[in-house]
Amino acid sequence: MGATLKKYHRLSGLVIAAFMLLHITNHLFALGGPSLHITVMNFLRHIYLFPPVEIVLLTCVMFQIISGVTLVFRKGFSHQPFYIKLQVMSGLYLSFFMIIHVWAVLTARYHWNMETDFYFAAGVVNRFPEKLFFIPYYTLSIISTFVHIASAHYAKRVEQLKVFPYPMYEEIFRSKYRREAINICIAGFIITFLIMIAFSGVLYDIKS
Ligand code: HEM
Ligand code: HEM
Repeated sequence: MGATLKKYHRLSGLVIAAFMLLHITNHLFALGGPSLHITVMNFLRHIYLFPPVEIVLLTCVMFQIISGVTLVFRKGFSHQPFYIKLQVMSGLYLSFFMIIHVWAVLTARYHWNMETDFYFAAGVVNRFPEKLFFIPYYTLSIISTFVHIASAHYAKRVEQLKVFPYPMYEEIFRSKYRREAINICIAGFIITFLIMIAFSGVLYDIKS
């Protein structure tokens, strides 16, 4: 039962990760200015706002939160190794973030008929006092995504070691896997930094 839920969590995670690849790439285009970001978003919307795709994506978001929180309760926290603690903490932050973020985007777009483009996010990141909440809120969302994927990657690799026939080399492989996970996190920090300097008005003036 636990293994099945984990398998579906991974499968649904793959759908969200595919969307995140587009979403994060889109946000990196903000380095070239708001109009470039909006042009890329208008193109990508043909993919993720195509109704069957959007329904699958939003269903996966709901399933990911419910299955993730269930996995946390099953797993516990206090006696877990460090990488599992990171996985649980990043997962819990992602639950909090995805509920607010997706609800805000959908309500703004479908209920208030607002445009949910670059200025929808950059507006609150640049206005005082909203930015005191929204800068850490968005920063932690991308960092948590990468930390969650890095710890899942490390957990999977360590699991493979259980059937490894050369126990004397185990420590060498463990440190190799640790380096891979750390590199995923470093990539995440750099991407987060680039996106946040673009959205927070460090590179150009943002008038919302
Ligand atoms: C961006 C969305 C998410 C993605 C892409 C994602 C992806 C993954 C992946 C690939 C795994 C590894 C599964 C395996 O080893 O087979 C995993 C594990 C896990 N995830 Fe997520 N996840 C996401 C959101 C969440 C959320 C919102 C939570 C809620 C707390 C969560 C909690 C967990 C936990 C506790 C595990 C460890 C499962 C275990 O080893 O028993 N995840 N996640
Ligand atoms: C700096 C970080 C982020 C910013 C600035 C941001 C901004 C946005 C914006 C402006 C939209 C509206 C898109 C549109 O109208 O086409 C959106 C939608 C969305 N975002 Fe994010 N986002 C961020 C991070 C994330 C993360 C980390 C996740 C998931 C873990 C996520 C999941 C989603 C989803 C599921 C949608 C809804 C797509 C749909 O309408 O069906 N976002 N985001």
